[in-house]
Amino acid sequence: PPSAMGTEDMLREELGSIHGIPLYKSFIEGWPQVEAFQARPDDLVIATYPKSGTTWLSEILDMIYHDGDVEKCRRDAIFNRVPFLEMKIPEMPSGIELLEKTPSPRLVKTHLPVQLLPTSFQDKDCKVIYVARNPKDVIISYYYFYQMAKIHPDPGTLGEFLETFMAGKVAYGSWYEHVRGWWEKKQEKQLLYLFYEDMKKDPQREVQKILQFLGKEVTEGTLARILHHTSFQEMRKNPATNYETMPTVLMDHSLSPFLRKGISGDWKNHFTVAQNERFDQHYQERMAGSDLHFQMEV
Ligand code: PPS
Repeated sequence: PPSAMGTEDMLREELGSIHGIPLYKSFIEGWPQVEAFQARPDDLVIATYPKSGTTWLSEILDMIYHDGDVEKCRRDAIFNRVPFLEMKIPEMPSGIELLEKTPSPRLVKTHLPVQLLPTSFQDKDCKVIYVARNPKDVIISYYYFYQMAKIHPDPGTLGEFLETFMAGKVAYGSWYEHVRGWWEKKQEKQLLYLFYEDMKKDPQREVQKILQFLGKEVTEGTLARILHHTSFQEMRKNPATNYETMPTVLMDHSLSPFLRKGISGDWKNHFTVAQNERFDQHYQERMAGSDLHFQMEV
C-alpha cells in the first residue's frame, strides 16, 4: 500500500478533489474523520471562502470569549486557539485532533462550502458566522497566499491565476458557489452573514452585530480593547495572530506576509484594465438574479 504523505510530498502538489471540490490531497486523506466529526452544541463555526477575513473574525471571537483579555488571547497561535476543522498536514496535529483537545466552548474554523459541512453541526444546531469578501480582493490575497503557502500548486502569473479562479479550479472551488451557497442559508436563525468590507468600514458596528448574535454584552472599555487589539496593525505585529510561528517550509513570510495589506480595493493596484473588464463580465453573468451584493472597495 502507498505510505502516508510526508511534508515534501505536499509541497507545490496539484490539488485533488472531494465531492467535486478541489482540495489539497493531504486534507483529503483526513476526510473520513471530518465527515464523522462530532460537534458539541456550543461549538461556534467560523466559515469563509479562503482569504476573506477568517483570522480577523477568529481573533475578534476569541477576544469576545475572553472578555477582552489580551494576555489570554496570546496563550497560543491563532491556528491552535481556533482549530481548522479539515486541516491535515503530515507531521502536524490535524484540525480534528486539536479540536478534540480544545475545551468548550470551541471556535471552529472551516473553509468548507455549505454542502460539505459535517452534518453533526446541523444536528447539534450550532451557530455559524460566515464572512464574505469581494472576489477581486480575494483573488489578489489568494494569489499572494498561493506563493507563500507551499501547500498550493504554483499559481503562475496573475493572469493565469485569474483564469484558474474564474474556472473554480483553486482550493475550495468556485467562490460564486461558496458565497451563494452560504447566503441561501442565512434566513436560518443560527447563521450570521458578514462582509469584510463592512468590517473595514465600521468595525464597531460589526462587532456589535456579533455580540448580539451571541447574546453577549461587554462594557464600552472592553469593546474598545477588542477593536484596538484586532486592528490590522496590531494583528500584524502579534506573533499569536500573524502566523509567523508556522514552519517556514509551510509558509514563507519572506515571499509575502500572511497579514499582507488588510485593505479593500488592492485589486486596483494589480488588475489590468482588460483583466478587470473580463472579470466584471464573468461576475455579472454568475451573480445575475442574486440579491447578494459586494462592495469592490470602501
Ligand atoms: S485564510 O488563510 O483563508 O484563513 O486567510 P484569511 O484570514 O481569511 O484572510 C487573510 C486576509 O485577511 C486580512 N486580514 C485583515 N484585514 C483587516 N484587518 C485585520 N485585522 C485583518 N487580519 C487579517 C489579511 O491581511 C489578508 O488579506 P490581504 O488582502 O492579503 O492583506
